[in-house]
Amino acid sequence: MSDISALERDLLASIGSANDEAALEAIRVSALGKKGSVSELLKTLGGMSPDERKTQGPVINALRDKVASAISDKKIALADAALDARLATERVDVTLPIRPEPQGTIHPVSQVLDEVTAIFGDLGFAIAEGPDIEFDDYNFTKLNIPPDHPARQMHDTFYMAKQKDGSSHVLRTHTSPVQVRTMLSQKPPIRIISPGRTYRVDSDATHSPMFHQYEGLVVDEGSTLANLKWVLEEFYKAFFEVDSVELRARPSFFPFTEPSVEWDLRCDRSVPGKITFGTGNDWLELAGSGMVNPRVLDMCGIDSKKYQGFAFGGGLDRLAMLKYGIPDIRPFFESDLRWLRHYGFSAFDLPTLDGGLSR
Ligand code: PHE
Repeated sequence: MSDISALERDLLASIGSANDEAALEAIRVSALGKKGSVSELLKTLGGMSPDERKTQGPVINALRDKVASAISDKKIALADAALDARLATERVDVTLPIRPEPQGTIHPVSQVLDEVTAIFGDLGFAIAEGPDIEFDDYNFTKLNIPPDHPARQMHDTFYMAKQKDGSSHVLRTHTSPVQVRTMLSQKPPIRIISPGRTYRVDSDATHSPMFHQYEGLVVDEGSTLANLKWVLEEFYKAFFEVDSVELRARPSFFPFTEPSVEWDLRCDRSVPGKITFGTGNDWLELAGSGMVNPRVLDMCGIDSKKYQGFAFGGGLDRLAMLKYGIPDIRPFFESDLRWLRHYGFSAFDLPTLDGGLSR
């Protein structure tokens, strides 16, 4: 009896002082394992007389239960302590001030892209994307510009070598092929905005061989030019952060829209080097647009008897230049840190409509 209580005292003491799982496991094996001290005691029950067994049985079994439960309690305590220790080392002080001088800035094109998508997102447009290397078919043919059509001359295209199967690719000359991709893969109602990189063989102060456009497409049973005008008005008001804008429509031509309209925005350029939108006596050309040509709808698998749509597109770099007073497009893509520091935006200011677009 005294042996058993001494064993119990020893075991409970060493369980209590085990300070990791391995030590605890070693104690478990030494007590409850096949050849463990408690297991050996249990084995002695077999050789006892029935009377002895009656008194010793409960004592030894109680010892086994006590040791087993002490081990499992200790196991939980060790795991809790390990978690506490880990949490303590991973502690983040959320009250620390942000790094005083953040390195790097958001490029004006990224900023404007975020602003444009925030505004159109609010108007219920989804974002759509397409590849920079595009099928000739999507960049031109399905937009009603067949091979050898004179309208191809409107774009100074970077053509890629013909594939073995006869298909050919181009660096997309506009974001309009995303219209094609969207209509081929979705059923109306469609409402998408697609910002992205575009390419043309062109380079001067206001043209870069790689530049950015945004494309809008709405297809539904009752979409009209009036809806298009409203969408553009709402967009320019939000983008230029003014209370009102005035748009002027000019007839134009794009093979994929019929009729086609170009939009000018009323602006004031009377102060040299400064443009204000919404007032003044000048007009600035900002977007190409029109009602989606029914031939394009049909080529993209949309029933032109049932559906009609409008599309619009313009330059993102151009929007950035106008809004943020950047005179030349070339440094946009020269990675000059001085330029980026001067025109870049804080990475902590995500443009939102309610939080402010550019502030
Ligand atoms: N893709 C045309 C361009 O690059 C712009 C445009 C888009 C015109 C959508 C009409 C409709 O000039």
